[in-house]
Amino acid sequence: MEQARIGVTGLAVMGRNLARNLARHGHAVAVHNRTSARTKALVEEFGHEGTFLPADIPEEFVASLERPRRLLVMVKAGAPTDAVIGEFAPLLDPGDMIVDAGNAHFADTRRREAALRPRGIHFVGAGVSGGEEGALHGPSIMPGGSPESYAELGPLLEDIAAKVDGTPCCAHVGPDGAGHFVKMVHNGIEYADMQLIAESYDLLRHAAGLDPAEIAEVFRGWNSGRLESYLIEITAEVLAHTDAATGRPFVDVVRDEAEQKGTGRWTVQTALDLGVPVDGIAAAVFARSVSGHAELRDATRNLLPGPPRTTIDPAGFAHAVERALYASKIVAYAQGFHQIRAGSAEYGWDIDLGAMAAIWRGGCIIRARFLDRIRAAYEDGAPTLLTAGHFAGALGEAQDAWRDVIATAVRLGIPTPGFSTALAYYDALRADRLPAALTQGQRDFFGAHTYRRVDRDGSFHTFWAGDRTEAAT
Ligand code: 6PG
Repeated sequence: MEQARIGVTGLAVMGRNLARNLARHGHAVAVHNRTSARTKALVEEFGHEGTFLPADIPEEFVASLERPRRLLVMVKAGAPTDAVIGEFAPLLDPGDMIVDAGNAHFADTRRREAALRPRGIHFVGAGVSGGEEGALHGPSIMPGGSPESYAELGPLLEDIAAKVDGTPCCAHVGPDGAGHFVKMVHNGIEYADMQLIAESYDLLRHAAGLDPAEIAEVFRGWNSGRLESYLIEITAEVLAHTDAATGRPFVDVVRDEAEQKGTGRWTVQTALDLGVPVDGIAAAVFARSVSGHAELRDATRNLLPGPPRTTIDPAGFAHAVERALYASKIVAYAQGFHQIRAGSAEYGWDIDLGAMAAIWRGGCIIRARFLDRIRAAYEDGAPTLLTAGHFAGALGEAQDAWRDVIATAVRLGIPTPGFSTALAYYDALRADRLPAALTQGQRDFFGAHTYRRVDRDGSFHTFWAGDRTEAAT
């Protein structure tokens, strides 16, 4: 009986497309779904693309896998993943692998990996980015788990991943939850990038008075320069689209309430725990949140006065917005990579930041030309992107335009939380002294929380309520 190199269970569109991608690359794939109609449909429709071994029940599915068994799970994150593990793990042997390719929280992945490890089963949390098309034609893959499991899975995953300059967009991220952690931060950066693009659009529309079709052209132009990326490319497509039912620009018929499934929020929650400033990502999550509070917006819209609306010359302004966008993007990516570095240190993952930038160059939602420069910066050991050669130059060159764009937005009453927070981070990092010294003084005043001095080691307290002398603590 022919054996499959890998099995895919969970055949909704992502699982189905990953299975097809594997089959198209010449790998025999066992396929299984909770309801077998989906399995049948996949084989009927796409059976000609390669070798699929359909199975109706878990036992049959597991029996059709070569050893060590590679079982890829593509179900909804959360309880369904635990249910599938509970169903399949008892059928597996030591050395076998379960790959969770969904958007799981890395803490769940750590828990599942730890639970299966004593049984010799490798649990691999693999981040997969690129949506349905990516899954079929080449996603970016971020697998965690043991090095032993990567030795068995790596060649297969690298085979189906996107390629940039012949290099697969797949690399072993690190043990246990490292892969899902990096995928989570990828999504956080995705949120920040999308928010910055949205603010650019809003400024071009409401400060410069361009219409969506004209703005689409601006984005098309940007996409042939240093901003070249999937998100800029699709932005032009969305803005150029006309609604068939009304003949209006598509963007004007969509409710302006951004939704989220949770990975951006997880990024910020985790960053708070790690103490890493990812304000660009947080600004994006909260901007979606503000947009979604329709009742609050309805109750306030006409009550809060704003400045008179005037428009400004689009030509020079679009150029300035490009600079502000590039600079703010550098900050967002720098913050995301800082979080990966901090997570890696916290959990002992030893994540190679340059390699992460490399596997994001293709296949994933944030794929972009400038990730190659980001890769180079981290390979050279940059502590942060902000001071790394090309990026330091770009920020220095952008800063006047960046400030002008934000000043214009403030003057015209156009909210730019992403741009503004990015610039504030930049200014905080370059500041000689921060007002944090005053904060420390206040903390010591009301709570005797102590402070450190610039001229001596140790902690100190001033007797604020008494004679205001100082004591070392
Ligand atoms: C990807 C995407 C994907 C995510 C969507 C939806 O990398 O392919 O990040 O994993 O599901 O982007 O995210 P939100 O619904 O939270 O916007």
